[in-house]
Amino acid sequence: MLNRPRRNRKSQVIREMVQEHHLHASDFIFPLFIIDGENKKTDVKSMPGIYRYSIDHLLKEVESCLKLGLKSFDLFPNLEESFKDQIASESVNENGLYLRAIKEVKNHFPEVCIVTDVAMDPYSSDGHDGLVENGEVVNDKTLQILADMAVAQARAGADIIAPSDMMDGRVQYIREALDNEGFTNISIMSYTAKYASAFYGPFRDALNSAPKFGDKKTYQMNPANQKEALLEGTLDTQEGADFLMVKPALAYLDIIKLMKDNFDLPIAAYNVSGEYAMVKAAIQNGWLDERAITETLMGIKRAGADVILTYHAKEVLENKWI
Ligand code: PBG
Repeated sequence: MLNRPRRNRKSQVIREMVQEHHLHASDFIFPLFIIDGENKKTDVKSMPGIYRYSIDHLLKEVESCLKLGLKSFDLFPNLEESFKDQIASESVNENGLYLRAIKEVKNHFPEVCIVTDVAMDPYSSDGHDGLVENGEVVNDKTLQILADMAVAQARAGADIIAPSDMMDGRVQYIREALDNEGFTNISIMSYTAKYASAFYGPFRDALNSAPKFGDKKTYQMNPANQKEALLEGTLDTQEGADFLMVKPALAYLDIIKLMKDNFDLPIAAYNVSGEYAMVKAAIQNGWLDERAITETLMGIKRAGADVILTYHAKEVLENKWI
């Protein structure tokens, strides 16, 4: 037999020598949930191992991640209902939880990369990503609210602004607003192909941000569509995005590959809350081995993701699984 592919699998050293893809700490962005108050660390029931942190605990968490080489964080606020209104006013409150958290993290750890989320849902009494009028999420009036939010986050110290709202035209609108305020170096990581997915459930529990009526299908994409991701990618590229994101990741590996093959910008993939919950629940039950975690992340990387947003980021480094 001339060809025996098994020769390249015969020892650990050779297997490592011919390994095609690797996971590194620098691939990851670690999402963190924040709550108001002091000395608080509350667990997210549907996401074992994931917590909501008050700012003091957030700083400790960031510090322990930094020791593991994990340096990029995506922050999300959990707000009490009393802070929510129709126009998401709290999102630009300098003394509000979110902007304070960004400032505190940057003051204590200037070297970290802070990714911030732009969308109305955590601050909206309607629980939607855009402005609701007569039961409809309206596009164009939402843009200014998003732009104001982005500028406030940049002012607080964000490094990368990540619009997750899926309104049309928002990347350019936000780019121009940032530039007008002198934030020409603040990047935009656009949620380019964000699907209307059932896998966001645990995240909405974590933030208490589920829509109060209806669903998000008039703005998030239909899971059956592939070409539409190319359309969104073309628009976001033209509008000045610095990264294109695909979300969720696991049921959308073909979309990650499609984006990687068709665009020159770095591709990010969001390994979302429901994907995390699924794997952790099976591991907790003893139905799956922990190696399922790195196998999952490797699949996302192999599909073409340059950056992976994942709730597994800390544990894979802590346990030296990569
Ligand atoms: C909201 C937002 C969502 C996620 C990130 N930003 C949820 C949604 O669109 O309803 C989901 C992240 C996850 O599930 O881990 N703009």
